[in-house]
Amino acid sequence: MRLSVIGCGYLGAVHAAAMASIGHDVIGIDVDERKVAALAAGTAPFFEPRLEELLADGLASGRLTFSTRLEDAAGSEVHFLAVGTPQIPGGHAADLRYVDAAVDALVPHLRPGDVLAGKSTVPVGTAARLAEQIDGTGATLVWNPEFLREGWAVHDTLTPDRLVVGAAAGEDGDRAVEVLRSVYRSAVDAGTPFLVTDLATAELVKGAANAFLATKISFINAMAEIAEASGADVTLLADALGYDTRIGRRYLGSGIGFGGGCLPKDIRAFAARAEELGRSESVGFLREVDSINLRRRDRAVQLVVDALGGLVFGRRIAVLGAAFKPFSDDIRDSPALDVAVRLRGLGADVVVTDPAAIDNAQAAHPQLGYARERDDALREADAVVVVTEWDEYRRDLSPVLAGGLVRGRVIIDGRNCLDAAAWRAAGWQYHGMGRR
Ligand code: UDX
Repeated sequence: MRLSVIGCGYLGAVHAAAMASIGHDVIGIDVDERKVAALAAGTAPFFEPRLEELLADGLASGRLTFSTRLEDAAGSEVHFLAVGTPQIPGGHAADLRYVDAAVDALVPHLRPGDVLAGKSTVPVGTAARLAEQIDGTGATLVWNPEFLREGWAVHDTLTPDRLVVGAAAGEDGDRAVEVLRSVYRSAVDAGTPFLVTDLATAELVKGAANAFLATKISFINAMAEIAEASGADVTLLADALGYDTRIGRRYLGSGIGFGGGCLPKDIRAFAARAEELGRSESVGFLREVDSINLRRRDRAVQLVVDALGGLVFGRRIAVLGAAFKPFSDDIRDSPALDVAVRLRGLGADVVVTDPAAIDNAQAAHPQLGYARERDDALREADAVVVVTEWDEYRRDLSPVLAGGLVRGRVIIDGRNCLDAAAWRAAGWQYHGMGRR
């Protein structure tokens, strides 16, 4: 099938490459010339495992092309809308200007029978409004939310847990749903659940999924606060809770909390939209989820300050990690960088290292010190803070080797990802978050 993907960020670039890899003819469109040039040359503009492999195959096969011209989308049977919906400056709601601009610009190029499939995360009610915006073109709007995780984006796009397609009732809607079923034929044939809903439910699925995941993380971090006050260990607590199949261990990883380009802004936008709908009380807990999450960053900083005897001014602190999570170079709302910035603000001599995110971090926070090599960051450090659980720190860093590099054997495990006993046995003062 001929597909266009409008917006080639984390979502759109991966979607375009993945759709080409399953045999579709895809054109990816973005207003950013540098991004389009990079993608057209087979270079991923961000770190995402397997993306460059898919780009190379797609470009070589001739099934994948990129353009800055929206008119090149004309002739595609399905147009996927994958532009960003950031948080509005100074507020919590989603900024829909890119969605609206893309749809406005696309309208003259839509043909009767085309399907416009929204993938961007939008406040409930947006799809119905966009359906009116394209009314008169003969095209049909469906909503097809994306649940991909960064670092797993290719995997999640090619083998999703479920496919959700929302459409308005009626023949056009039904037909458009079947068009989407054809797009995803390989996944559907492999048994992926394909759920058909109305537009509002499809929009809500995404917001609700993110709200649930964020709540699960903040729940365990709230338990970490109780563990800190009572002398319990939150990681053992999470293990014990996780064996209950109704609860499950995933997303019970305690530490400095969630960040990234999605969860924080999506739960805020979700709550803001609920408030507009007169349902503030239904999302009051999300404000709590957000504040528990932000408190953990304060707590990590406090642990470093306490471990260094109450003052970090002038002390050298190795910060292991800058990305908001491993297998990503994304630093948007990264709790890891936030901890580094706060320590710098207290006068510490901070040296940040990360296997993938140094360039992004340096561009955003030039005031911090950086080291490309982990061991250079560790050298002469008075304390070490692990804030992103990359394998390089979690699995491969030997406490004995690290002990030979630092000045002070003090480690704060902001992701509860280290073997506390091994670090203590190597002479380190180990501090987890919510761990004894
Ligand atoms: C998330 C959702 O998982 C995805 O479905 C949605 O489409 C977009 O938002 P992503 O932002 O890639 O994906 O990251 P995710 O892996 O969910 O992690 C989000 C944050 O939560 C990270 O900062 C991570 O470190 C943190 N996290 C995750 C925890 O603190 N504890 C956990 O147990 C899991």
